[in-house]
Amino acid sequence: MKILITGGAGFVGSHLADKLHGEGHDITVIDNLSTGSYQNVAHLEGQERFRFIIETVLNESLMEELIRETDRVFHMASAVGVKLIMEHPVKTIETIFRGTDVVLGSCARYRKRVLIPSTSEVYGKSSEVPFAEDNDILKGSTSKHRWAYACAKELDEFLALAHFKETRLPVAVVRLFNTVGPRQTGQYGMVVPNFVKAAVRNEPLIVHGDGGQSRCFGHVLDVVGALAKTLETPECFGQVMNIGNAEEVTIKQLAEKAIALTGSRSEIKYIPYEEAYGEGFEDMRRRVPSLEKAARLIGYQPTRTLNEIINDVAQQFREELKSETASA
Ligand SMILES: NC(=O)c1ccc[n+]([C@@H]2O[C@H](COP(=O)([O-])OP(=O)(O)OC[C@H]3O[C@@H](n4cnc5c(N)ncnc54)[C@H](O)[C@@H]3O)[C@@H](O)[C@H]2O)c1
Repeated sequence: MKILITGGAGFVGSHLADKLHGEGHDITVIDNLSTGSYQNVAHLEGQERFRFIIETVLNESLMEELIRETDRVFHMASAVGVKLIMEHPVKTIETIFRGTDVVLGSCARYRKRVLIPSTSEVYGKSSEVPFAEDNDILKGSTSKHRWAYACAKELDEFLALAHFKETRLPVAVVRLFNTVGPRQTGQYGMVVPNFVKAAVRNEPLIVHGDGGQSRCFGHVLDVVGALAKTLETPECFGQVMNIGNAEEVTIKQLAEKAIALTGSRSEIKYIPYEEAYGEGFEDMRRRVPSLEKAARLIGYQPTRTLNEIINDVAQQFREELKSETASA
């Protein structure tokens, strides 16, 4: 099959490209390299059945051309991460909403299967864990800009479901919970790469708040398997489905685990949220997915543990440190 992956030079998109290319499909990646990296797809370039285009998904005529000739679209391009959203508020909303509008418009015109990734952020401040897809959701006020990411993604969900409702567009929405693994950069505030990188370098691990907030981390290889399966399962069209891992860990425990598993001499430092993100920052205390719907629709069952995630990520940062030391 011909498969288009927008944002395919990013963290999740590049692992998806590896998987689908490895299965024998023709892959086209379009990415403007705003947060993604050429390095993530460099090993694919030059191989048969792989094409890389550096351009924005906001280029409507190009997107129309690419979508017309493809069989499946995974729309992974997005502004991602709370830090980025706080720093570039206008671009965030534009990229998320306009990008998805462009993609869905052409997919609707040419009747192409399309996957729209959303995020666990849409559950907002809800404390009704585990989060199930049909739960009510609770956001902060529009003056608290961190909620812009969640609301823009929620609008993407509404638009995708509207296309399904009006013309039965084969579109599936997947709410990704924290997804981690090699290639994810800590530059935009992602906690696992930040902690593991600091631990490997024996530098302090910086915890925001008291560290009692909890999260669940899914291995990117479990996640891309689920994304691929979703688009091949017509029961998923017109549906919103959580994907992640339900193993819950507090951020303090995560820091301790990262130190223990890497044999690090790092210490843990606690700083107030305001220091990291500015005045009035709001966060959610717990974030746990209900994976019942994913189990029912696509037989999803994550297989990789948090220890495996930390070990895989540590491997990447050890290699990075080794090549830095060698070139110093
Ligand atoms: N990683 C997670 O924990 C997580 C959690 C929830 C949702 N998601 C969603 O999964 C998707 C992929 O996220 P990721 O973690 O791989 O992030 P990422 O930043 O690594 O990937 C996003 C990619 O999109 C590209 N991009 C951004 N704007 C673009 C544009 N206008 N045109 C073309 N390319 C553009 C970036 O360069 C990057 O390569 C996003 O939709 C994100 O919202 C990820």
